[in-house]
Amino acid sequence: MSGKNALKIGEKILFGIFGVFIVLATLSYIALEIVRTRSPEPLFQVKTHYDFSPVGEQGSVMFREANCTSCHRALRNGTNMGLDLDGIGTKRTPEWIYQFLKEPEATYTARTLDHGARPKEASYVAELPDTTLVAIATFLSELRADQGSASSPMPPEGRSSFIDNMLKAWAPESWREKYGDVRDREYTATEAPSK
Ligand code: HEC
Repeated sequence: MSGKNALKIGEKILFGIFGVFIVLATLSYIALEIVRTRSPEPLFQVKTHYDFSPVGEQGSVMFREANCTSCHRALRNGTNMGLDLDGIGTKRTPEWIYQFLKEPEATYTARTLDHGARPKEASYVAELPDTTLVAIATFLSELRADQGSASSPMPPEGRSSFIDNMLKAWAPESWREKYGDVRDREYTATEAPSK
């Protein structure tokens, strides 16, 4: 006679699968932690860095005070709601960033989501005093990315036969004429690898 509380066969299977998942997740976590603590190199390399000028340092304070971190990440702080701005200085000049903050749509030459005229949520940014915008633009332009990082316009150094083969297999000939290979182009001063 089975008691009222005995598990049905379906429930046993379901809880069994659940249990296996939890055990596997715990074991993988322990394994990962062991590898992470014993590995001489960090698992995730930090590829963005900064070296602030006095104005850049003031800008970093204004950046936080102006609530930019409610939508952006910088110095690995903030949210991912908008764009991650770590490394932006390798892609954009201080002039471009200032121009964007002042006239977002004209600078993007495209419709923007949050920056721009009221009632857009970040419309207040363009209304900040000029000195604040200059300091913030300086701060952002000092956030640099290493070559090959996700926030760098430059691909990793050296040729990869994997990428060459993928291009050969997937990119139509017409693309090669229309678009240049980013690995062959000359880099601008802001993009150049910081050594
Ligand atoms: C309400 C969310 C929000 C707030 C607040 C906000 N931003 Fe943005 N930001 C965005 C979004 C979204 C984009 C992409 C452009 C767009 O659609 O508006 C962007 C784009 C940018 C870009 C251009 C990045 C690039 O390389 O294309 C910069 C620079 C920037 N924001 C700086 C700032 C600064 C500085 C502040 C604070 C003074 C700020 N943002 C506040 C959402 C926000």
